[in-house]
Amino acid sequence: MARIIDSAVVGCGRMGCTTSDWVKKYAPKYFFPLSHADAIHQHKYLNLKALCDTNNETLDKVANHFQVKNKYLDFNKMLQAINPELITIATRTNIRSHIIHRAYDFGVKAMHVEKPLCNSMRELLSLEKILNEEDFYFTWGAIRRYLLPYQQALKLVESGVYGKLQEIKINFGSSSLFWTHPHSIDLIIWAAGNRKLESIQAYLGHLDNNQKKNVIENDPEVLSSILYFDDGVIGNITRGNGLDFILTCENAELNVRADGHEIVIYLSENNDYPQYKKVDLSKTLEMQGTLAPLNQLFLCLTNNKEFIKNNLLIKRDILKTQRICFAILQSHLQGSIPISLNEIDEDLTIMGKSKEGFFS
Ligand SMILES: NC(=O)c1ccc[n+]([C@@H]2O[C@H](COP(=O)([O-])OP(=O)(O)OC[C@H]3O[C@@H](n4cnc5c(N)ncnc54)[C@H](O)[C@@H]3O)[C@@H](O)[C@H]2O)c1
Repeated sequence: MARIIDSAVVGCGRMGCTTSDWVKKYAPKYFFPLSHADAIHQHKYLNLKALCDTNNETLDKVANHFQVKNKYLDFNKMLQAINPELITIATRTNIRSHIIHRAYDFGVKAMHVEKPLCNSMRELLSLEKILNEEDFYFTWGAIRRYLLPYQQALKLVESGVYGKLQEIKINFGSSSLFWTHPHSIDLIIWAAGNRKLESIQAYLGHLDNNQKKNVIENDPEVLSSILYFDDGVIGNITRGNGLDFILTCENAELNVRADGHEIVIYLSENNDYPQYKKVDLSKTLEMQGTLAPLNQLFLCLTNNKEFIKNNLLIKRDILKTQRICFAILQSHLQGSIPISLNEIDEDLTIMGKSKEGFFS
């Protein structure tokens, strides 16, 4: 029997512990369990040992719901008292990098952390050092890459039956760089696989940067962004509606529509105009939602060599995706020219505050 891993959640709001009613009602079944605590609770070998939140009322409510007796207002105290092997972090971004560093220094070996990773290039550079450690395991909240409809669509593309992949398009509506597009970029990077990313070009909406040009207070809307890969494949973030992930190949287009409610192929079968055809979705629901990345961490902690190797790639993609978020801003600040990942101002900062003053 596998050993039990003591785990704790830091930040017990929606992503940490309380999935919103809208998501519960409308999101595709593949997204569940979505909250960190629900996922830990459902994993056979993870023990939800402690909960931590600075809001006493929230803490009491979720501790009562999950029947967890160890609850902490201060994550330092939680680390000392519980010594968890795995933590998840679902605070807002402003405190995230600090918590990751503190927990890493304390000896926590595995973390599942919400997106985005951090607010500044400087924070990212210091997190790169930690995430590059081979025996430190890390996943984050951009989870679509683990979900079956996305995996099914990419597998069809990679089979080659529709010709070469040409474009990876994300239609996630009119949305903000930090709140939404870590998901878009993560999907593009995942679908692009081992292709080399050459440059990024972007055009953003309004920036609140009255004090300093390179310190952005708000979370800017992405009006358009293009990622150029070395073999000509293009990643394209649009403002198109639908929460769609579209893989355009030479001879057909595969669309994971509405967050994975369906997969549709747009294809000409008789040398005439193309038509839409639905693909049967996989019925299995094993290890979906946040359970998928948490299970990866569990397998790494229990010394599964294949998953340890895979986590190196996942960590590489997380760091790259976060860097691309900053590159998108850098391109915009330079008049929307294409820039490479090595041309980002190290002082670039995105505080990502909403109109109401909440951090992303
Ligand atoms: N992966 C996804 O699909 C997805 C969806 C929504 C939000 N998010 C991300 O998840 C993060 C959390 O979003 P949310 O909607 O759950 O936020 P939320 O405001 O509902 O929850 C954040 C919680 O963190 C607590 N907190 C703040 N500082 C703390 C600290 N120092 N120690 C412990 N707890 C602290 C707050 O009291 C609050 O309860 C955001 O960064 C957001 O971008 C991800």
